[in-house]
Amino acid sequence: MQTLELLLSRSSQPRLQSPAPNEEALQNILHAAMRAPDHGNLTPWKFIVVEGEGLIRLGDLFEQAAIDAGLSEKEVIRAPQLPQRAPMIIVVVANYHDHPKVPWIEQVASASCAAYAMQLAADDQGYASIWRTGFFSQSPVVKNAFSLADQDEIVGFLYMGSPAADPVSKPARAMHEFVEYWR
Ligand SMILES: Cc1cc2nc3c(=O)[nH]c(=O)nc-3n(C[C@H](O)[C@H](O)[C@H](O)COP(=O)(O)O)c2cc1C
Repeated sequence: MQTLELLLSRSSQPRLQSPAPNEEALQNILHAAMRAPDHGNLTPWKFIVVEGEGLIRLGDLFEQAAIDAGLSEKEVIRAPQLPQRAPMIIVVVANYHDHPKVPWIEQVASASCAAYAMQLAADDQGYASIWRTGFFSQSPVVKNAFSLADQDEIVGFLYMGSPAADPVSKPARAMHEFVEYWR
């Protein structure tokens, strides 16, 4: 797909199924992430690719986090099922580096660009994805399990796979409401 066509037509896909990106596609996805804009060349990110048994492990972790946080019984039961919504999840972490000129927000922005690059790379190779966060991205239990420091962030769980439904149609946005020109 041409780059502009991809950018103009991309949509998230909440309904995902196997197969997950194959090894070649996954490597392209990860290489695309490495090209994210990165002030100071800090590479302020880390990616955890979760598949197979790893999805069960992640579900166990979510369940533990739900129990520790005192969530409702319904949420505790649902927690281990969440990672089963895709055959692959890439956990995108903003790995903060203390730097005099590159504040935390820029490093989170950089990791977020990496996440979006991975979504585009997945789409371009015939796969689909959705970026999710929610309670578990902020959970200390989950952050500890990934050995994150206080200022590190889980910027998202990229659920990836093959589309299990037609692309979600999106109405065009009223662009003029969000854009002004100084010229
Ligand atoms: C930082 C971030 C967190 C998000 N978290 C969730 C989430 O937890 N659950 C969800 O359904 N969508 C979440 N979304 C939105 C979806 O990824 C997606 O953008 C949305 O469904 C709109 O679809 P589109 O990307 O095709 O416009 C999040 C998006 C971003 C950028």
